[in-house]
Amino acid sequence: MPNITYVSHADERTVVEVPVGWSVMEGAIQNDVAGIVAECGGGCACATCHVFVDPLWIDKLGEQTVMEQDMLECTAIESTERSRLSCQIKVTSNLDGLIVHLPENQS
Ligand code: FES
Repeated sequence: MPNITYVSHADERTVVEVPVGWSVMEGAIQNDVAGIVAECGGGCACATCHVFVDPLWIDKLGEQTVMEQDMLECTAIESTERSRLSCQIKVTSNLDGLIVHLPENQS
């Protein structure tokens, strides 16, 4: 299974194995990684699963949908060019080693 590294705002790293087909958000929630809330359960309707993708990985992710782009305007911490909604990042074998940084808060 691909390893995903979640880096907290305090720079604590949590590495979890996430099954292919899950989202990066599900990997966090199912492994009790603090810092991702996911109020809407992955419906791209809350923006509480905001992450900053590590610069080395940003070009390896798929394109954002218009819906994701719209929701990224509603994040608690201002979004940047590295921002994604973790519920919209599907884990594939190509994402083994992905690093995402968590914002200071989600609401
Ligand atoms: S879980 Fe709500 S937008 Fe991602």
